[in-house]
Amino acid sequence: MAAIDFNLMLIGFMGTGKSTVASKLKQMLQAEQIEMDALIAEEAGMSIPDIFEKFGESHFRDLETEMLRKFKEKRPVIVSCGGGVVLRDENIEIMKGQGKIVLLTATPQTVYERVKDNGDRPVLNGNMNVEYISELMEKRKLRYEMAADIVIATDGKTVDEICNEILESVKVK
Ligand code: S3P
Repeated sequence: MAAIDFNLMLIGFMGTGKSTVASKLKQMLQAEQIEMDALIAEEAGMSIPDIFEKFGESHFRDLETEMLRKFKEKRPVIVSCGGGVVLRDENIEIMKGQGKIVLLTATPQTVYERVKDNGDRPVLNGNMNVEYISELMEKRKLRYEMAADIVIATDGKTVDEICNEILESVKVK
């Protein structure tokens, strides 16, 4: 049986380590893990960049909202959310009704190092530099903070340290 009876939703900017942390938490908590982006791509039968290109960002955001709703019935799951889920108030409300929302943060430099060689993030297409990442992060900062129950800074920490901090904060022993 899983060690949690609620959903753990990992949010944060691209490259803050949501997927890595989610897979470690999956082992620690014996709970199912969901990669939101991968599931959206699988259900749509095309990659995230293709969804953006063919149908536009707002269609992708609709798919995110639809998917978030479905996680309620899947409780308990650990969800690695797409970096933009906090952009809609509705999404924050849906997540808050499902469990705990954990925000992972990292500096723009760290994010850049982690995402620079990956072309799967349309939001950063043509803008793959620290300055742009820093500006976008700043623009989204309040959205992330208003959604979060728990905030964990990840720079310089191991995955184990991050997970232990999360479990301590959500009081899972
Ligand atoms: C996005 C983040 C991506 C993905 C999409 C848009 C964003 O997820 O959902 O490319 O707007 O921040 P990751 O945070 O998992 O990279």
